[in-house]
Amino acid sequence: KAFVREKLERNRFEEKNQELLSVSSKQILVNSILSPAITLLASAGLLLLLWLGINHVESGQLATSELVSLLLYAMLLTQPISGLANVYGQVQRTLGAADRLQAFFAQQPEPEGTNQPILPLGSGAIEFESVSFAYPEREPVLQDFNLKIEAGETIAITGPNGAGKSTLAYLLMRFDQPQSGRILIDDHDIEQFDLQSVREQIGLVAQNTLLVNGTVRDNLVYGRFDASNEDIQKAAHSARASEFIEQLPEGYDTIIGDQGVKLSGGQRQRLSLARTLMKDPPILILDEATAMFDPEGEAGFIQECKELIAERTVILITHRPASLALADRVLKLEKLV
Ligand SMILES: Nc1ncnc2c1ncn2[C@@H]1O[C@H](COP(=O)(O)OP(=O)(O)OP(=O)(O)O)[C@@H](O)[C@H]1O
Ligand SMILES: [Mg+2]
Repeated sequence: KAFVREKLERNRFEEKNQELLSVSSKQILVNSILSPAITLLASAGLLLLLWLGINHVESGQLATSELVSLLLYAMLLTQPISGLANVYGQVQRTLGAADRLQAFFAQQPEPEGTNQPILPLGSGAIEFESVSFAYPEREPVLQDFNLKIEAGETIAITGPNGAGKSTLAYLLMRFDQPQSGRILIDDHDIEQFDLQSVREQIGLVAQNTLLVNGTVRDNLVYGRFDASNEDIQKAAHSARASEFIEQLPEGYDTIIGDQGVKLSGGQRQRLSLARTLMKDPPILILDEATAMFDPEGEAGFIQECKELIAERTVILITHRPASLALADRVLKLEKLV
């Protein structure tokens, strides 16, 4: 609607419907020819059998009762044979669906229960060691990338869109694997350790927030199910979320998402931030986590953050000057080529 493209979309929908109609008519046509044709064939066979049988009865080789049984058996057979026509159509349809399923099942599952050791809880020093990475069939994003982040340091990463800032966070979370090089947390190669234990040490507030359908509380405890009410309120307060949550019709028990109260972009971001803070991880990655905050909210959050940040290793991916001011060091990531 914002682009005034209703007509175009309606036409496109119409086109697809026409296509569907023509394919369906073809299917019905094939079915309506195939099915009677097979029935005709079966009946012809039956007639042939009758004719042969009569001959045998006349010559005395076959009793009449035997002929009747024979015909009845033959009729029993015609049913499943005409059913074959339907089977053909069904097989074709199933093959189409199976193609899509196959693509889905071809995805490599993440290793689980690999007997890899648990990554010991450390101080959160991070090191990228000549890491090279490219998404499948895309230009490289990182080439021989080196970065050392001290435990407890707050580093801000800026740079143009598409430079690979979010990719750094994904690699650290092991959502993807570098083609070469290593990533170390507290001098441990994360590849060598249990996947879940690596992720448990990192709190990621992603650029695209994904909330679960449920109450505000459901969303907050998602990162830590054993959290107490006090923990929840503390995290909400730190993320500057408690104010708007308390104004919701049922406070922390308000259902949000598709079937509930809709939240604004900034409110979603604050909630997602609070959810990550609940995890209380030694490493915190904020990927444009304050981009939708109003200046006041951001200032308040940054004030609060000083405490949050002091005891953790923090990667701030941001363009906002107020957030940059929080960092011990600012790194500008450039695009390759
Ligand atoms: N899942 C993916 N599959 C393929 N290519 C991807 C994928 N995610 C990102 N890319 C590509 O990798 C490059 C780096 O993307 P990335 O998201 O890390 O950039 P960014 O620095 O976070 O940008 P922004 O400032 O817009 O958030 C881009 O060229 C992008 O097109
Ligand atoms: Mg990004």
